Amino acid sequence: MTPAPSHHQRVLSGMRPTGKLHLGHYHGVLKNWLELQHEYECYFFVADWHALTTHYESPEVIPQSVWDLVIDWLAAGINPGSATLFIQSRVPEHAELHLLLSMITPLGWLERVPTFKDQQEKLKEKDLSTYGFLGYPLLQSADILIYKAGLVPVGEDQLSHVELTREVARRFNHLYGREPGFEEKAQAAMKKMGRKNAKLYQELRRRYQEQGDVEALETGRALLENQHNISVGDRERLFGYLEGGGRIILPEPQPLLTKASKVPGLDGQKMSKSYGNTIGLREAPETVEKKIKTMPTDPARVRRTDPGDPAKCPVWSFHEMYSKPEVMDWVQEGCRTAGIGCLDCKQHVLDAVLAEQAPIRQRAEEYASDPKLVRNIITEGCEAARDVARDTLDEVRQAMGLAYR
Ligand code: TRP
Ligand code: SF4
Repeated sequence: MTPAPSHHQRVLSGMRPTGKLHLGHYHGVLKNWLELQHEYECYFFVADWHALTTHYESPEVIPQSVWDLVIDWLAAGINPGSATLFIQSRVPEHAELHLLLSMITPLGWLERVPTFKDQQEKLKEKDLSTYGFLGYPLLQSADILIYKAGLVPVGEDQLSHVELTREVARRFNHLYGREPGFEEKAQAAMKKMGRKNAKLYQELRRRYQEQGDVEALETGRALLENQHNISVGDRERLFGYLEGGGRIILPEPQPLLTKASKVPGLDGQKMSKSYGNTIGLREAPETVEKKIKTMPTDPARVRRTDPGDPAKCPVWSFHEMYSKPEVMDWVQEGCRTAGIGCLDCKQHVLDAVLAEQAPIRQRAEEYASDPKLVRNIITEGCEAARDVARDTLDEVRQAMGLAYR
């Protein structure tokens, strides 16, 4: 099933507040968000409950990280005028949807999500045999489905969570999408497309349901996507009716795989907090300088007069990321002939990193010195998010028979 096209344009993603962002996050996730915010209706949020699933014994890091994260986003250029920024725990509707979805989610689906066992193995020092941690991906499903998001930008490691979300949505629609009088409502909706389109729709529906003709299904979906004078509800009914299911209440999202960032870590491995090889997004220039100056280089260059090979040096990976071709030629030549020293070589990297950080650091300082402004941005975002979340939750309650109030 595809998500209802009326929500295709909604993008949702979250980050856990467990520390400051580094350049790897900037070049991977954040730059991606910067582009998306111009093209789609974006919802970006701080997943503080998700942080609690692994940090329940040390929740102190969360509050400070929440605001650091928001400031990092704003400083990087995320614009609260085009994207809705909010904090998960301030939209409690996520929790209610999580609870309701838990009723229909088989335990085995959660136990089989690869991150469940992987993280338990990896974070051995923590006891992650909790109910909350098992439910981590389902809480993520609630985050996504409550906004009927069509696209979810995530890294490779999170793909299985989007897949689970799709399965849960499908199960939900299957169980609760059969409203009373569905058939009649679908028929009535069909008429609203006009006689010609209605006839075509019926033909495609027949071909798919009787002959399993997948092409007819695709054509039928495209036909519905191009209907502009039917309501969202009718369109969802017709999507469901086309496939033989019920109404689609929770559309299935698609993952939008974020390309891994090309920034290397200080030791040449991928930049990651767990390797302790990061440069903070808005780290102070003095410590950036110290980190770069003490970076390992080609071990063959013991003395200044020993020639080296950039291919064996983590500094070279930074040149590949940041330097112009002339500088790269200069490094290649100078390193191999011992014509340049490693500090000369590193200076170019240092300058480039500092130049990249300067405007970000400056904007971050402005936001950090105006906590009221940051709080207002978040308060507004939370309200806007809640409006959408409440509507979905109303539909969900109705569909599950919980509308007796
Ligand atoms: N689990 C995600 C991560 O660790 C964060 C997250 C929580 C998220 N809810 C989400 C990402 C919903 C995308 C959509 O990175
Ligand atoms: Fe690395 Fe540059 Fe030194 Fe060569 S000159 S070893 S590339 S730091």
